[in-house]
Amino acid sequence: MSTLQVGIRKEIMGKGEEGVLKRGFLFACTDKSESECLDRLLFATGKIYGPVVIRIRRGDILFLNNIDTDVLYGVFKAVSDGGLDIEEGTFNGRYRYQVKVEPLGGVVKVEKARRVLSRFGLKRNRPVFRGKLLGLLEIFKSGAQKGDLLNFQNLKEYEDAMTKEMERIKNSKAEVDIEEEIPLIEATTFWDFPKQSYGLTPKGDNKYAGVTPALIIYNMIWRYTEPGDLVVDPMAGSGTTIDVCKEEKRIAIGYDIHSTRKDIIKNDAREIPLGDNSVDMVFIDSPYGDNIRYNEEQGNIGNISSESEEFYDELEKVMKESKRILKEGKVLGWLIGDQWVKNKFTPVGLKIYERLSRRFEPVDIICVSRRSQSSNTEVWQNRARRFNFYLRGFKYLIIVRKHSRKSEPSQGRRIKWAYYDRNKSGKV
Ligand SMILES: C[S@@+](CC[C@H](N)C(=O)[O-])C[C@H]1O[C@@H](n2cnc3c(N)ncnc32)[C@H](O)[C@@H]1O
Repeated sequence: MSTLQVGIRKEIMGKGEEGVLKRGFLFACTDKSESECLDRLLFATGKIYGPVVIRIRRGDILFLNNIDTDVLYGVFKAVSDGGLDIEEGTFNGRYRYQVKVEPLGGVVKVEKARRVLSRFGLKRNRPVFRGKLLGLLEIFKSGAQKGDLLNFQNLKEYEDAMTKEMERIKNSKAEVDIEEEIPLIEATTFWDFPKQSYGLTPKGDNKYAGVTPALIIYNMIWRYTEPGDLVVDPMAGSGTTIDVCKEEKRIAIGYDIHSTRKDIIKNDAREIPLGDNSVDMVFIDSPYGDNIRYNEEQGNIGNISSESEEFYDELEKVMKESKRILKEGKVLGWLIGDQWVKNKFTPVGLKIYERLSRRFEPVDIICVSRRSQSSNTEVWQNRARRFNFYLRGFKYLIIVRKHSRKSEPSQGRRIKWAYYDRNKSGKV
């Protein structure tokens, strides 16, 4: 990791914000990991819940659910911001997304956790605020009176600590500052996002022609990078990649042939001013069709027809540059759609895939539903039926990797398949 990345990682992970809205978060443990959580006063989870953990800040309220015994432990207060490897090497390196905690006066054990959690709507990716958070604290306060206080200190001291905290929550005037449900990463190769953005702040400009759905970038960076990593978008357009990276605590550099905002550097993607092997992920949503005119800049590859080979030759220069700047084994995500214009279909996505596969190892291909295109109207749907053509319903997200010395040979692999019987409903 470069010194720049270490510095920024420290800065984005080490800031505690006092006097702001408190949110309640849930962690889970098993019988096996419970004592490590409680003894170390360190709550931890895997990357799946990384997006939740990095949103936790010092002062937030935390609960620990043992899913084997259906017990809920509380109340804890975060004494660090949530982040990656707060204590390196703990939990055998399995649960790297962590937060340091401190009990609020003492630890109370509440039975039948599932019932309590569903009553207050607290889930691992669904924080609670104000009324619901106060309700939960009330349960722990009365739990202590019933004698469920572990590490018994002093009931009076415990109650004072809880009352003080509850007053702070009641008096907080701050607006809710985090999504009610934090998006988890997609599990399948079909992605369908109803909105261009997510969260409470805009990502990119949803009026920009060809703006990328922010959750595509969110999924890419949560799959293939860690907080503090460097992500580059050589064709950044309205800056969606930069905004997503900021929210998800990655470092981003965005370039475009036509800069639309101060933090987008004007540059031709065929020559990227970065060193070899210096970048953790590249994301590109390139021009693909002849129907969008992004700008009149001379080097705008979108002004070359995707029906011509020149278009692919120019984009191949961008592929070459992306490979040069990527570190070994790191990933490039390329979003691209096909074209159908005046009775001619051009499989742009497959042609781009073919060019990419000359230089990179394939990782996967995602089908991304296209919801907000301008032809998504009844008039166009009727025309498509009447004149026997199809409207473009999806784009490809092609994910490829720069080879590394560690890459496994793809030939001669022996696979031991497990075969599953179909059940009565026909599902396996
Ligand atoms: C589909 S848009 C990118 C959208 C962007 N991801 C967003 O969310 O706003 C494609 C972009 O490629 C840019 N572009 C075209 N040719 C370029 C080149 N040679 N170098 C850099 N950017 C280029 C265009 O200006 C346009 O902004």
